[in-house]
Amino acid sequence: MAKTIIISNRLPLQIKIENEELTVTPSVGGLATGMKSVHKAGDSLWLGWSGLTEEEIDDNLKADVEAASAKEACVNVPLTQDDVENFYYGFSNKTIWPLFHYFTEYTEYQQHYWVKYREVNEKFAEVVAKHIEPGDKVWIHDYQLMLLPQLIKERYPDSAIGFFLHIPFPSFEVFRILPWRTEILEGLLGADLIGFHTYDYERHFFSSVRRLLGYEINFNEIIINNRIIRSDIFPMGIDYDKFHNASVSQQRKSVKDRTELHQELDKHQLVNPEVRFILSIDRLDYTKGIQKRLYAFEHFLEKYPEYRGQATLIMLCVPSRQNVDQYQRMKSEIDELVGRINGNYSTINWTPVWYFYRALPFENLIDLYSSSDVALLTPIRDGMNLVAKEYVAAQIDSKGVLILSEMTGAAKEMSEAILINPNNIDAIADAIHEALAMPAEEQITRIDTMQNRLKRYNVEKWADDFFNNLKEVQEQQALQSGK
Ligand code: G6P
Repeated sequence: MAKTIIISNRLPLQIKIENEELTVTPSVGGLATGMKSVHKAGDSLWLGWSGLTEEEIDDNLKADVEAASAKEACVNVPLTQDDVENFYYGFSNKTIWPLFHYFTEYTEYQQHYWVKYREVNEKFAEVVAKHIEPGDKVWIHDYQLMLLPQLIKERYPDSAIGFFLHIPFPSFEVFRILPWRTEILEGLLGADLIGFHTYDYERHFFSSVRRLLGYEINFNEIIINNRIIRSDIFPMGIDYDKFHNASVSQQRKSVKDRTELHQELDKHQLVNPEVRFILSIDRLDYTKGIQKRLYAFEHFLEKYPEYRGQATLIMLCVPSRQNVDQYQRMKSEIDELVGRINGNYSTINWTPVWYFYRALPFENLIDLYSSSDVALLTPIRDGMNLVAKEYVAAQIDSKGVLILSEMTGAAKEMSEAILINPNNIDAIADAIHEALAMPAEEQITRIDTMQNRLKRYNVEKWADDFFNNLKEVQEQQALQSGK
C-alpha cells in the first residue's frame, strides 16, 4: 500500500546516550510537536536525524537506535559530527535561520557550510531512495532540506512531492543577499506543492522566483518545462482536542492527584488569591524576543507599581542549539536580567520572575497553560508560533488573555489577541496591564472565537488540506502531459 514519507531534519524523537543506555525523549519545536499527530494518524514513515552522530553510535548501539526509531515508524538518517557542525549548526542555523528571520547581522556566509548543506541533502535523498515505492507521497519539511525536493524529483519524476516551510520566507531584498539564492530556489521548485504559513511568506517567495529566476507566476502556479508547481497557504494548526481535553482532565483531578507543579501553582493562588500568572514558553532563541520581554515586564512593574507582589512572570525557556554563540550569549543575558529583576523587586512573599531553563513534560505544560491568566509571547520574528494556539486551546472556562507579537505567523489568524510590536517595550507593558484588567466577558468572547477557529482548522485539517492540494496538482499535471 502506498504510504506517506515525512522527512525533516529532526525526528520527533530525540535519542541520547546516558551511562551507555539509550534514552528517548520527544523533540522540541513546532515542527516535531505538530507533525507528530499527523504521523500517528496516518500510514507514514518519518525520515530524519535522531540527534546522535555516527561517531556516538558504535556497532553495539546501532541496532538499538534502529529499533527505538522503528518503534515510532521512524528511520534515522546518519549524520556525522562534521555534518552536524557544518550542515546543522553551520548552514542551517548560522546562515538560513538568521537570514530568514531578518537577523542579517548574525548571518554567516561560508562556502564550506554550503558544501556540507548540499552533501547532507544528498544523504537524505539516498535514504529516501531506500524506502520510496511507486505511489508514495513525499512530504519534506523545513529550511534544512530545501535542496531535497529537486534531488528527489530528478530521481523520481513521477513522485508526488510536497514541501512545507515552517519559518518565514523573507522579503526579496533580504533573500537576495544569500550567495546561493538561485540554488535554493531551484531546489524548492523540485516540489509539486510548496506550502507556507502566511500569504506574506508566499508573496515573498514568488517575488524571489520571478526576480531571480525570471519565471512567470500564474495566480499561484509556476510552469517550468511543462511541469506545474503550485504554492499555497496552509497556516499550521494544532491537535486541539489533545490540548483542550488534557486541560479539562487535569483540572478535574482531585488535588492529591495533581502534578507537583500544579499543586504549587494552586498553593500560591490559595495564599494570595490576587496573584496573577503571566506565562511565556519558547525555545531559547534570539528570534523569540526574550530579553525585550523581560525589559517590558520590568517596565510594567515600574509603570504599574500596584501589580508588584501580584503579578508573576512564569518564563519557560527550552534549551536549543547550545553550540551557537548567539544562543550562549543570550542565555547569559537572560540569567543576568532575571537576576536583576528578581534582585530589585522580590519580597519575602513574592518573586517576580520564575525562570525555568529546561524542557517540561506535556502534563506540566498543560498545568502552566491552564493556570496562567495571561500568555505573553513576543517573538521578534516567528514563522507561526504554535504555543499561542496551545495556550488558547488549553483554556477551559474561556478565560485567559493572549498577548501576541504581530511578527508571528499566528498573529494573522488570531486578531482577538492583544497584538503588540515586540520592539515597543512601553506598549508591551501597557498590554500586560490591559490583559490583567480585561473584564471576564471580554476574555470569554475573545477566547471562544479563537477556540472555534482552532477547532475547525486543526492540524489534521491542515495536513488533509495540504494532501488534497498535492493530489490536485498531480491530477492537473497528468491532464497537462496527457498521461
Ligand atoms: C523550529 C524549526 C524546526 C526545528 C525546531 C527545533 O521549530 O522550524 O525545523 O526542528 O525549531 O530546532 P532544532 O534545531 O532543535 O531542530
